[in-house]
Amino acid sequence: MCGIVGYVGDKQARDVVIEGLRRLEYRGYDSAGIALVHDGTIAGDKRAGKLANLEKAIAETPLPPSTTGIGHTRWATHGAPNDVNAHPHLGSTGRVAVVHNGIIENFARLRDELERAGHDLVSETDTEVAAHLLENEVLAGVDLTAAMQAVCRRLEGAFTLVAVDGQDPSRVVAARRNSPLVVGIGEGENFIGSDVAAFIEHTREALELGQDQVVTITRDGVEVSDFEGNAAEGRRYHVNWDLAAAEKDGYDWFMRKEIFEQPRAIGDALLGRHDENGLLQLDEVRISDDELRDIDKVIIIACGSSYYAAMVAKYAIEHWTRIPCEVELSHEFRYRDPILTRNTLVVAISQSGETADTLMAIRHAITQKARVLAICNTNGSTIPRESDAVIYTHAGPEIGVASTKGFLTQLVACYLLGLYLAQVRGTKYGDEIGAVVRELAMMPDRVQQVLDDSGAIYALAQRFKDAKSVLFLGRHAGFPVALEGALKLKELAYIHAEGFAAGELKHGPIALIEEGLPVFCVVPPRGRDQLHDKMISAIQEVRARGALTIVLAESDDTEVVPYADVLIPLPTVPTLLQPLVATIPMQLFACELATVMGHDVDQPRNLAKSVTVE
Ligand code: G6P
Repeated sequence: MCGIVGYVGDKQARDVVIEGLRRLEYRGYDSAGIALVHDGTIAGDKRAGKLANLEKAIAETPLPPSTTGIGHTRWATHGAPNDVNAHPHLGSTGRVAVVHNGIIENFARLRDELERAGHDLVSETDTEVAAHLLENEVLAGVDLTAAMQAVCRRLEGAFTLVAVDGQDPSRVVAARRNSPLVVGIGEGENFIGSDVAAFIEHTREALELGQDQVVTITRDGVEVSDFEGNAAEGRRYHVNWDLAAAEKDGYDWFMRKEIFEQPRAIGDALLGRHDENGLLQLDEVRISDDELRDIDKVIIIACGSSYYAAMVAKYAIEHWTRIPCEVELSHEFRYRDPILTRNTLVVAISQSGETADTLMAIRHAITQKARVLAICNTNGSTIPRESDAVIYTHAGPEIGVASTKGFLTQLVACYLLGLYLAQVRGTKYGDEIGAVVRELAMMPDRVQQVLDDSGAIYALAQRFKDAKSVLFLGRHAGFPVALEGALKLKELAYIHAEGFAAGELKHGPIALIEEGLPVFCVVPPRGRDQLHDKMISAIQEVRARGALTIVLAESDDTEVVPYADVLIPLPTVPTLLQPLVATIPMQLFACELATVMGHDVDQPRNLAKSVTVE
């Protein structure tokens, strides 16, 4: 969702800002704009559509030189994605320019107040009120930092605001409440970004801001305060990935690159978290063993793909620890008055660490005194910062909107958490835990094997390029895999896709089956005889009604052969770990089908990578 860039230094701000916006494109957006401080005033441009439209406009009517500027990619909330609603927004006289991510909830009241005072607001956005309010302060002689503090005290809702004053080229001022914002610390230059991708090619030193803070960057300094103007501090950290990680490296899509990075990502997620005997050591879990032993319920909250990782986690955690485990969509959780106590462990899974629904849900859990543990990929993000403990997934930056390596490494983190709880609580013997850990340690090779054997998937994408609907069936840990397979297809190919628990088929979904309908079937390993056999029955049932079955099964599972129109071989792994290998063909299928259909795989329509509004 909205990408924000701010810069002050000695380079041309136009170039730094446009490049920063390009690196934030993956967040999802539908218009883009830039504002530069030049000669006592603001110069800028903003356009609906992709960044290329803005660049074309700037090429036709060049912007003046400037070393202080801000930029924005907008994901529309208030008002259509057109030129007028695109950011930056200006105050009445055009002296102050503002970009914004989030939703200002009391904007209607503020707009009314401004209009009654004679202000003429031209857009339908909530943001424009902030520009007018800030400019009022500045015109009254207040510097931009104090103006930002004063305005933020009046705003309700979620916002990151970044502003420049046309008459003060020395500074860019930003504020944050509930929406993401990081500062990049350079030499003789400083940066602001929605995330570190905005400035990673210039600096890997970053400053994480806290809730309700204002930051002022100048060429040589960074000052943080709260909304009252009291000095405050951010947390400095070093970004442990570099520019290469944020580039496509010869692949056509970031998503494809990220799919093929999964063996490495899984290896990194496991690194340093167990010894050679399989004894787990999760140093970042800052909840004491005594407290973990007192946990009597686990609730996992998440959205999107992370929610499906949570569903897999439930099977593993309950099986290994015998602690009841509930799984819930973050946005549903908060509004149903869930029962939480000191002995409830709330696990929040979020690749970005910024999903507003999940953030609000953990805040609710914290007020109810539950322990909160985050499973997250993004250092410096809000959800782990506000949690009691965190397990980082170490997938590296995930740029493709549809989650791939983010999802698989979340699974790994969930397995580690489940095994760690079992170890601490003594619900599994050490050698049993060690056996699972050894299986996990073999996963990078097994995932590589699936990638190496993926040829059939490409042909499949050609074959189904005109499909109107695709179904996915699974059981047990294969059920969330089916849901994830369907989500990937919806996200990327924009076709109807649904995942079902195979046992549910006969209770309704079987009515959807018709001649030639592609149905992906995830077959459990034969170690689970009953599940395996029941899944084969389900495959027979859909095939008897004309479905075309694409069967994912262990490579030496001969029983499925007669019922598979297309067979996708999987390595033999324990049932609970099978999602790590079974998801990959579905990721590849969605990526390839979308490519064949001519869609933008990395930036699917209407979607945002990081959903920072509720
Ligand atoms: C968005 C993305 C999904 C992602 C979901 C949850 O909808 O498009 O790919 O799974 O958010 O994101 P999170 O960062 O919390 O895992």
